[in-house]
Amino acid sequence: MTAEESKLHAETLAAQGMGRVATPYHDIVPPIHVTTTYERGADGAFPGGRIYSRADNPTYDATEALIAALEGAAAAMVFASGQAAAAAVFQALAPGDGVLAPRNMYWALRKWLLQFAAPWGLSIEFYENGSIDDLAEKTQARRPRLIWIETPANPTWDLTDIAAASEIGRNIGAVVAVDSTAATPVLTRPIELGAHIVMHSATKYLNGHADVIAGALATAKDDELWQRIGYIRGSGGAILGPFESWLLLRGMRTLHVRVATVCTNAQTIALRLQEHPKLSHVLYPGLQSHPGHEVAVKQMRNGYGGMMSVRLRDGEAAAMSFVAKLRIFKRATSLGSTESLAEHRASVEGPGTMCPADLVRLSIGIEHVDDLIADLEHALE
Ligand SMILES: Cc1ncc(COP(=O)(O)O)c(C=O)c1O
Repeated sequence: MTAEESKLHAETLAAQGMGRVATPYHDIVPPIHVTTTYERGADGAFPGGRIYSRADNPTYDATEALIAALEGAAAAMVFASGQAAAAAVFQALAPGDGVLAPRNMYWALRKWLLQFAAPWGLSIEFYENGSIDDLAEKTQARRPRLIWIETPANPTWDLTDIAAASEIGRNIGAVVAVDSTAATPVLTRPIELGAHIVMHSATKYLNGHADVIAGALATAKDDELWQRIGYIRGSGGAILGPFESWLLLRGMRTLHVRVATVCTNAQTIALRLQEHPKLSHVLYPGLQSHPGHEVAVKQMRNGYGGMMSVRLRDGEAAAMSFVAKLRIFKRATSLGSTESLAEHRASVEGPGTMCPADLVRLSIGIEHVDDLIADLEHALE
């Protein structure tokens, strides 16, 4: 980031997609660099500063600079998906290293840890989301190399106190990495709270339009770990295409307005549904009844996000029937786009899921909130 850029607010940098006017045509919108390779000078040097696009592509520059600026990070890297970004962090460890991860977390990453990372040699242990005491105890006992946090965490939106967890990690020299997909940098900035690495499924709120699969990492320090992660991306090849990088930058231009709207819509819906007789739980960090509300107040600003889950008093069949009756909410997995989505989470996760069978996950979009409430209330009738 230039000295001039560093003086600007995140909203300004995002709205202008970093605002770097490209030469020679002075384009307001940056070009897409489709090249896979770069010309060498007669002296053998690389005057463009790049060799081959599996390692890096100029279309990444503004996208990564904006993610780093939004997170208050030293640097950022884009990946082919959120899973690829997360996997690169774990692969940067050495076989034999210990990992502490939350019991409730994005299920496909949990499955990858158990089915790939553990046989590869990482020692995986899970801590109770939201229990700093459990995390502290397991950290003392296991001396992990990495503490993984997801907050708010799928699918119950449990909060983990990032500042407290970072201190616990720092005391034993562990890396603390945060999957901040649901929070977005608009609501939580983990590096300011002491985390080392921030991860996003950029497929979700960062891009925001359900048309790109992408991942991102941001780091507090450009250190040896970060260099190793860069090597893993370039050598393993889990890279983002230039078109996807460009679309991601375009999506992030509206990040702040989209997140503001989903927070307002979600808070309104959660308050409206919290006493509904058909529901046993409305799980939303913005409600005082949510177990993580106090931590959310402490570490989230501008709102509590667009993700919530509801649990149906009458069990799984009622949850299925509720989803089937929705008209405005689309029945689909994923989250963080402009349109609202609903899914019966346990059946998406499949065998071995820890998700309650009566739970429906809602990703609240930017539609008019009255339409969303009418749809939910009709489907609950
Ligand atoms: C919280 C969270 N982390 C990581 C991922 C994985 O991201 P991707 O689908 O971009 O690989 C997801 C995807 O749903 C997610 O919700």
